[in-house]
Amino acid sequence: MHFDEAKNEILQILRRTESRDLAKLIDWLKHSGDVDDYLVDNQRAVLHSIAEDLRSYLPLDAVFPSETLAIQKTHVNAKPTVHVDAFLYDEDTVDSLCEEGKMSRSYCLRCGSHETAPLEFISHSFSIPELQFLFHHVLPDLTGKLVVDVGSRLGAVLYGGFLYSAAAQLVGVEISEEFVKLQTMTVEKYGFSDRVQVIHADICSQAALVQNSDVLIMNNVFEYFMEPEDQIRAWHFISQNFRKKGAMLVTVPSIQESLKLLQEAIGASAISYWLEEVPLNYSVYLQGDAVSDAIKQIHLYMVP
Ligand SMILES: C[S@@+](CC[C@H](N)C(=O)[O-])C[C@H]1O[C@@H](n2cnc3c(N)ncnc32)[C@H](O)[C@@H]1O
Repeated sequence: MHFDEAKNEILQILRRTESRDLAKLIDWLKHSGDVDDYLVDNQRAVLHSIAEDLRSYLPLDAVFPSETLAIQKTHVNAKPTVHVDAFLYDEDTVDSLCEEGKMSRSYCLRCGSHETAPLEFISHSFSIPELQFLFHHVLPDLTGKLVVDVGSRLGAVLYGGFLYSAAAQLVGVEISEEFVKLQTMTVEKYGFSDRVQVIHADICSQAALVQNSDVLIMNNVFEYFMEPEDQIRAWHFISQNFRKKGAMLVTVPSIQESLKLLQEAIGASAISYWLEEVPLNYSVYLQGDAVSDAIKQIHLYMVP
């Protein structure tokens, strides 16, 4: 049912309601948690619809052939690894694709045998449940705030932030032109343009934006897309420009983990930790009775 039809039905119900119960019904419509729950489900449905749209524009691994470094890096992993984008493909969609023989969760240890081992999956986006956790449980009320997603790729953080938060502006900065085009198309199609903007640039050219942002999101931005020396340069840039008192940084994985591997790899000078970590309560997000590993990789920091 479309908007006009639904609206007319609601008006008809209001007309038929006993006059003594009318105020009670309107109050319920305005304030009840039953209606809020419906809204949350509706937001999730919009995100699923965006994912479905985007799947039709991308190869199954959601990596463009121009992303040579990301492709090379998966080939040198110790365990056979495939790109499966968690925003585009939730568990049920992966199961259906496996049943259709289009995707596999395992690989053959000896050709032709039934001996198999699980494949490593790498996602380059947050999943829809992770976005909900991020905006409902990790970040505070974002009314009036500027949120910047460093390396916005498909735009998952921007759409999640639009639907799940009151942020005044959500800006994505993405170095790949192909992904900028996909995001721009989606922002226009879904009517997000009043609060969402996508910039085609290297984050290191965006000093003023980083200096002004209230929340910076860095989900595994550099590891698969830049050489270690360039990653160090980018982290120096972030640490020098992200200094607004009280501003918050969300990272996956922790800053310590990202920098430790880099500094060991190239013997780079230590980047001082200029932020304070804010402990998170991961147990508010249970899948069954366990917190998923992906959720535990989310870390929050504040500029003191
Ligand atoms: C793992 S994806 C993050 C996706 C998204 N932020 C999310 O959480 O769903 C990292 C993205 O960062 C982009 N990227 C890497 N280095 C960048 C840089 N220096 N400036 C802007 N974007 C960059 C890559 O092209 C890639 O699309």
